[in-house]
Amino acid sequence: MKKPNTFSFFPAKKLQGETEVPGDKSISHRAIIFGSIAEGTTKIENFLPGLDCLSTIDCFRRLGVNITAKSNTSIIVNGVGLQGLNEPTDILDVGNSGTTIRLLSGLLSGTNFYSVMTGDASIRKRPMDRVKKPLEQMGARIHGRDNGRLAPLSIIGTKLTPIHYQSPVASAQIKSSILLAGIWAEGHIKVTEPTKSRDHTELMYKTFGGDIEVEGNTVTIAGGSTRLSAQEVQVPGDISSAAFLMVAASIVPNSEVLIKNVGVNPTRSGIIDALQAMNANIKLTNERKYGEEPVADILVTSSHLKGTIIEGNLIPRLIDEVPILLIAAALAEGDTIVKDAKELRVKETDRIQVMHDELLKVGIISTPKEDGIEIAGNQMISGGTIDSHHDHRIGMAFAVAALTAKDKIEIENYDAVKVSFPNFTEVMTALGAKCE
Ligand code: S3P
Repeated sequence: MKKPNTFSFFPAKKLQGETEVPGDKSISHRAIIFGSIAEGTTKIENFLPGLDCLSTIDCFRRLGVNITAKSNTSIIVNGVGLQGLNEPTDILDVGNSGTTIRLLSGLLSGTNFYSVMTGDASIRKRPMDRVKKPLEQMGARIHGRDNGRLAPLSIIGTKLTPIHYQSPVASAQIKSSILLAGIWAEGHIKVTEPTKSRDHTELMYKTFGGDIEVEGNTVTIAGGSTRLSAQEVQVPGDISSAAFLMVAASIVPNSEVLIKNVGVNPTRSGIIDALQAMNANIKLTNERKYGEEPVADILVTSSHLKGTIIEGNLIPRLIDEVPILLIAAALAEGDTIVKDAKELRVKETDRIQVMHDELLKVGIISTPKEDGIEIAGNQMISGGTIDSHHDHRIGMAFAVAALTAKDKIEIENYDAVKVSFPNFTEVMTALGAKCE
């Protein structure tokens, strides 16, 4: 009998066809946030109806914003303006979403009310001091478990003052949290990162009429009296979801897959650079922009991959794609080394340890390091049973691994894929994958 919440993928002969991936998760969150604090009616098309972004909608509804859906990808946000948010009458639940809790920590710090946020078991283990510390430098009053390091977080809204924060890590969640707090503060708020992280907040702030300057790795906004105005937002397809299809089409022989309307923002497109360095056959066509965000169609045909080194500035540009890159690396010719990627340890799971442990269950040997992982190429993927550990990207990485495995791979806690790619099973099946 089939175990509950378990799903199997089988070896495939080829993948073929044209497809789209759901809307970008980071951009969908930001469209709800900026739509809520702008004045007027924001229309969002190709919104990601994944659980994380639905959590953001739920939080803003509890803050008094009227958000309606024409369909599950077409959303209308009746913005209330920055001053129009209301004290929630109950705890805000962010589910599995780190982006929601960290970005909202900044925004809620500058209100004139009290709020509490919590999330699932994974969220309650993830570090929140990385946003609490800089926000406290701005005057924020945030409390949480373990001296404020862990959620639930309670926030007493207060008047904030500007800072120039030198972030020790390249993190869009930290940067965005400070910028969203900065909107309240009178004066210039600056964030400098060691390496540039994804810049969707900066681009969308500009689109909504915010005053923002970017110089190298430093972002400056003028806070205090900013009024944002409603927009029509077309969300590009999520390159982090497309990554699973890019690797799948590369490793399954005789494949040709066209993924249409994918966001190719340079702060996110490291996966394309890494796969091309591995000899993948990837071509971008129909390049254009949705608002400030670059978009393209991506054509991938099978190829013989080789190992590579993934490090330095490339890491923030593909941080969420490391699990799926490890599947490509195991099959490539030669070794692959991932380093400078300590951040992987504080994602939805510790993705260095979890990938190492789960790879072993399908016969793949890797060497975990403090800040990355090393993996020899030319390995054979056996069948087996793995656990997603409720991490969407772990689940999908092993679904792709199964396509070139000797036997089926059973994925426990498969439901996690709904966090970012709710129709993953349907998209894979339409391209020729077999699963049950
Ligand atoms: C995200 C930023 C990244 C990424 C996450 C989404 C965002 O996290 O891993 O999936 O939308 O800002 P960090 O900012 O912690 O690197």
